[in-house]
Amino acid sequence: MPVPDLTARKLVQRPGSRKPALPRRALLAAPLLPLLGGAGPAAGLGALAAGKGVLFGTALTRMELEGSPGLGRIAETDAAVIVPGLELKWSGHRPSPEGFDFGDADFMVRFAGERGKALRGHALVWHEALPPWFASAPQDAAGMRALLERHIRTVAGRYAGRMQSWDVVNEPVEPWYRRADGLRETPFLRALGPGYIDLAFRLAHEADPAARLVLNEYGLEMPTEDNAARRAAVLALLRGMRARGVPVHALGIQAHLSAAARGFDAGLLRGFIREVAALGLEVYVTELDVTDRGLPPEIPARDAAVARCYRTFLEAALAEPALRLVVLWGLSDRYTWMNDSPHARREDGLPVRAHLYDGNFRPKPAWHAVADAFRAAPPR
Ligand code: G3I
Repeated sequence: MPVPDLTARKLVQRPGSRKPALPRRALLAAPLLPLLGGAGPAAGLGALAAGKGVLFGTALTRMELEGSPGLGRIAETDAAVIVPGLELKWSGHRPSPEGFDFGDADFMVRFAGERGKALRGHALVWHEALPPWFASAPQDAAGMRALLERHIRTVAGRYAGRMQSWDVVNEPVEPWYRRADGLRETPFLRALGPGYIDLAFRLAHEADPAARLVLNEYGLEMPTEDNAARRAAVLALLRGMRARGVPVHALGIQAHLSAAARGFDAGLLRGFIREVAALGLEVYVTELDVTDRGLPPEIPARDAAVARCYRTFLEAALAEPALRLVVLWGLSDRYTWMNDSPHARREDGLPVRAHLYDGNFRPKPAWHAVADAFRAAPPR
């Protein structure tokens, strides 16, 4: 079946509007879930994971849900937690410096609420997915502080009590900049120094004291020099935050994996998770997917290798009791960021088969691999 052309659909934005698209009462009427369990039929992955004390779900977008009812059905079956993939980024609800438009975000909150799903917010501070006006906003310390304060208070405050967790700062580390602290140079860092991270967490905690607050990062799972530098920088950052009493509750390991990559070391990943846990933090896998870039074109071989990669990674991560949440960055091959990424897409031009369901929402070997990993996982 051809993939429908969704490019005509634009985010519905009402510049300058501050009026909530959905009454706050309606948002709060959505069930406040127990954070684990109770979602999806017995056969779904969310229920399997909940049996082991792990919250399982997926990222989705409004465009995808409106384009394909089949996607809503598999999400309903498998996901106990929903992450709006675009709608809670600045580009998803900040049409102008003054304005907020929560139409798409509220759609996702309703989708989750009506199906008894938990919600995860992504992301309050990220150097990407910023709206065009951001570049002309004041970039000095006072201006940036005011911008962050208003943004986090408004967005985290709107959904307070509804979010299981928030990615407060996304991707703050980048050793390529060669700073001693390993931090990425972003407009936030340039204006406010490394303290922007503590500030964002404190603001998020004030706005939504019930949400688990997460530092989310990529490139943490492989035994490469680059990933070792990222792990060291993340650990140093978290250690400092804990010492300063910053309200951080979990590290998010994005886990954008590659089935063709060699040398995954389960012991190394487990050791890193234990180091994070020793700081008194939980560990979440927040954006799991597996590109088949670099593998030959034959589908059975690609699907088997992708499934093996999901299973090997999850078996290692789930062996650690600090691992409390697993979110996939997409459920079906019909919608994937990987075909648009020069690093993740296939060099032969074939669409990647990176997810648990094919483009027609039929489960692939990867679905069974994830189910097996949860069945084998120790309870926590
Ligand atoms: O919907 C518009 C469409 O109307 C327009 O014609 C088209 C033209 O480029 O763009 C479409 O929107 C794109 C959207 O994805 C939906 O496909 C945006 O340009 C594009 O920037 C957006 O990319 C997303 C990216 O984050 C930036 O927000 C990816 O889908 C999303 O998978 C990716 O997710 C990130 C996580 O947030 C953080 N970790 C890495 C992960 C993968 O890059």
